[in-house]
Amino acid sequence: MREDSVAFSLRPGVHEDYAALYRLDQACFAPGIAWSKAELEYFLKYPGNLSIVAEDEAGRIVGFAIAGRQRRQGALLGRLITIDVDAALRRRGVGRRLLGEIETQFRGIGAVAVLLEVAVDNTAAQEFYVRHGFARTGRIPGYYLGRIDALAMEKPLG
Ligand SMILES: CC(C)(COP(=O)(O)OP(=O)(O)OC[C@H]1O[C@@H](n2cnc3c(N)ncnc32)[C@H](O)[C@@H]1OP(=O)(O)O)[C@@H](O)C(=O)NCCC(=O)NCCS
Repeated sequence: MREDSVAFSLRPGVHEDYAALYRLDQACFAPGIAWSKAELEYFLKYPGNLSIVAEDEAGRIVGFAIAGRQRRQGALLGRLITIDVDAALRRRGVGRRLLGEIETQFRGIGAVAVLLEVAVDNTAAQEFYVRHGFARTGRIPGYYLGRIDALAMEKPLG
């Protein structure tokens, strides 16, 4: 972690955050890959979804993560929908804390693994996930915009 680390705290996301999350998501992803306002609003209010916001001391949102739940052969799984960190504040542990909190909360409700998809050209995120124990489980052709493949990744929650 860099020495100029950022002071931030985590809290659950609430419906009113959706506009700030939208702005951050737009800055993190290309048009067509970034979520729409309506999608983010839906994710924030969908029952059972987890949303965690990282806020600096001034109350500015510097990162967030949203995840849903699904079942596979009866077992509960977490599915990371997105994790976004302000580009100016990356490599300072915000992503690590957000992901850690998502994993802790999923473990707490008995989830056995966390799944996600990441674009094949998003090598920074892939390295982040590998560093945090995710392994590649497959490739999904044309997952983004019908032309960019996704890698499916998974981490068991021991
Ligand atoms: C992926 C992302 C969330 C990581 O957030 P972050 O706050 O920068 O991550 P952290 O500082 O907690 O990084 C933890 C570790 O992950 C790895 N890592 C993170 N970013 C990395 C990068 N760009 N290249 C290589 N390794 C990286 C490193 O091992 C890092 O530890 P270190 O800084 O001590 O070397 C952030 O880059 C981001 O928001 N990207 C744009 C949105 C995105 O692509 N999200 C994923 C969607 S699937």
